This record gives sequence, C-alpha cells and structure tokens, in this order.
Amino acid sequence: MADANGSTVNVFAGKGGVGKTTCSATSAFHFASLGEKTLALSTDATPSLLHIFEASGGGKPVKVNDWLHIREIGVEETKEMWDGKFGREVYEVFSSLVDVEYKDFVEFMTSLLPGLSEEFMVDYIRELSRKGEYRNIVWDTAPLGQTLALLETPAMLGEHLKMAPRIYSRLKVGQKSRQPILDIIKRWENLSAANMDFLRKSVSFSMVTIPEALAVQQLDGVFREMEKYGLKVSRLIINNVVRTEDSEFLCIRADQQKKYIDAIYHKYPHLQIVELPMFPCEVKGLERLKEVERLLFQKMPA
Ligand SMILES: Nc1ncnc2c1ncn2[C@@H]1O[C@H](COP(=O)(O)OP(=O)(O)OP(=O)(O)O)[C@@H](O)[C@H]1O
Ligand SMILES: [Mg+2]
Repeated sequence: MADANGSTVNVFAGKGGVGKTTCSATSAFHFASLGEKTLALSTDATPSLLHIFEASGGGKPVKVNDWLHIREIGVEETKEMWDGKFGREVYEVFSSLVDVEYKDFVEFMTSLLPGLSEEFMVDYIRELSRKGEYRNIVWDTAPLGQTLALLETPAMLGEHLKMAPRIYSRLKVGQKSRQPILDIIKRWENLSAANMDFLRKSVSFSMVTIPEALAVQQLDGVFREMEKYGLKVSRLIINNVVRTEDSEFLCIRADQQKKYIDAIYHKYPHLQIVELPMFPCEVKGLERLKEVERLLFQKMPA
C-alpha cells in the first residue's frame, strides 16, 4: 500500500521472537532484488537487521547495496523528533513557570509520556514515505506489546495533553500564557489523527505467528485490537513450521503443530496465509535470505 506518490510501507507485527525481523529482512531483500529502492527500518530497542544482512557501518542509513539501505532508529533520535516538532514551544510555556534546563525538559517529557516515541516513529515514517525517496519501506517493529502500545498512542496522548490546561488553571496562569499550550495540543491532536490515518490507509500489516498454543491464542486479541483502530491485516505468516519428519522428535513436533495450523486456517479463512518452515540453520546472510524469500513470496525454485 502507498500514498499517491509515496513509498509502500510494510510492517510485520507479532509477539516476541516469532520471526518479525526475519520476515522484514526477507521482504526488504525481495523488493531490493526487484530493483526497487528499499529501506529496511528498525525501531526496535534491540535491533538485529544489520546482523541478519551481515552489514556494518556507522552511516545513516547503512548501504547494503544500491537498492537496499538499512536504518536503525533509537530513542535519542526520537527525542530529536519531538524536539524538532514541539520541544521549543512547549518548553517556552513551561519555563515561564518552572526553572528547568531545556535538555532536562526534553528528557522529562519523552520519559513521561508513554507512546511518545511510537507516535514520532509513525510520524517519521509518514514523512519518509511522503518524500518518496524509497519505493518501499519495510518497518521492523518491536514485539507485540509495544506494537499495541503504538495503536493506543493517539488516544493516550490526547488524554495526557488534556490535563495540561487543568494544570495551568490550578497554577492560576493567565489566559495569555494558556493559549499557546492549547494551540500546541490542537496541533498534536491533528498530528495524531494524521498518523493514525496513515497507519490505516498507507501501511500494509502482516501478522507473524508460530504454531504454538500461546501464540495462536493471542492472535484473536491482536486482530480485535487492530480492528478497533481500523487497521487491516493483509497476510498471516505461520513461521517455524516443521516439515521434515525424519526423526521421532520432529514427528512429535509436527504432530503438535498440526492442530494449531489447522485452527489458524479455520479461524482466518479470509486472510492470505503463508507457511514458513523451520530451517536447520539460522537465517543470516544474503544466500539464506534468498531461500527464505522464495518461500515467503511463493516463488518457484530457480
Ligand atoms: N523459520 C525459521 N527457522 C529457523 N530459525 C528461525 C526461523 N525464523 C526465525 N528464526 C530465528 O529465530 C530467531 C528469532 O527470529 P527474529 O529475530 O526474526 O524474531 P523477532 O520476532 O524479530 O524477535 P523479537 O521480538 O525479539 O524482535 C532468530 O535467531 C532467527 O534467525
Ligand atoms: Mg525483531
């Protein structure tokens, strides 16, 4: 999915360790190998994209080849985003009341508001997509908890910010000083709405799961949550499927997985479902990614 001339944005969501980063890296590899300029972007606190591509380098972004770039965004950069969009203005209002250094103020705000970093990540990706420098952006997210926090973000921020005028009235701040913060709240609400709209209309979500009890149980809740926010999942990936049954150990594993795999097909008949086998070796390096790409994108062997 993409804005009129913007980038296509793909997100892989799911609980911890199910294979989100592996699928993100594989998709980025896929788009790049079609000759489409692609950015694999990680906003995970413990990113591993560079590791999978066996790439290194301090450049921002890191260039794997002409078509594929990797960028890992950390907390510090999120703070800079907040700083750039609202920091100074909010600080000016606050510093007229409280004696606080600007650096400490930004630190305080970004740690105080949960979801702030996610909000600005979405905002960053929205702008990046709008610029259209990349044909594709593959966004490797943190595990499920954080992904859901991301969905709650706009509502949460709205609630937090609504408190601000009340604090102001308690402090008996005059109408003159109160107006700027109300303007900022309005702008923030607009930003949240635009970001949510972007997630709804321009981002393609794929859900990644594994055929195990807890992972399958959690799927329902996640789909419900996403539906609540009007976010649609286009594809469901069942990862780590045991295909070879040449030992008793694997037979038992495969047998156990079968009931969860059947349950998934039964429950989500409207979704495109792709199964990825459990590989004997870890997915790392371009050669391995090529093999995973063939399976994830259901390409015929060369
Ligand atoms: N199909 C597979 N077969 C074998 N190993 C796999 C498979 N898929 C993923 N792995 C391995 O499992 C580990 C976890 O995968 P990955 O990092 O992609 O999960 P994740 O969902 O991104 O995890 P996190 O929630 O921690 O970010 C990695 O070491 C990866 O190489
Ligand atoms: Mg990951």
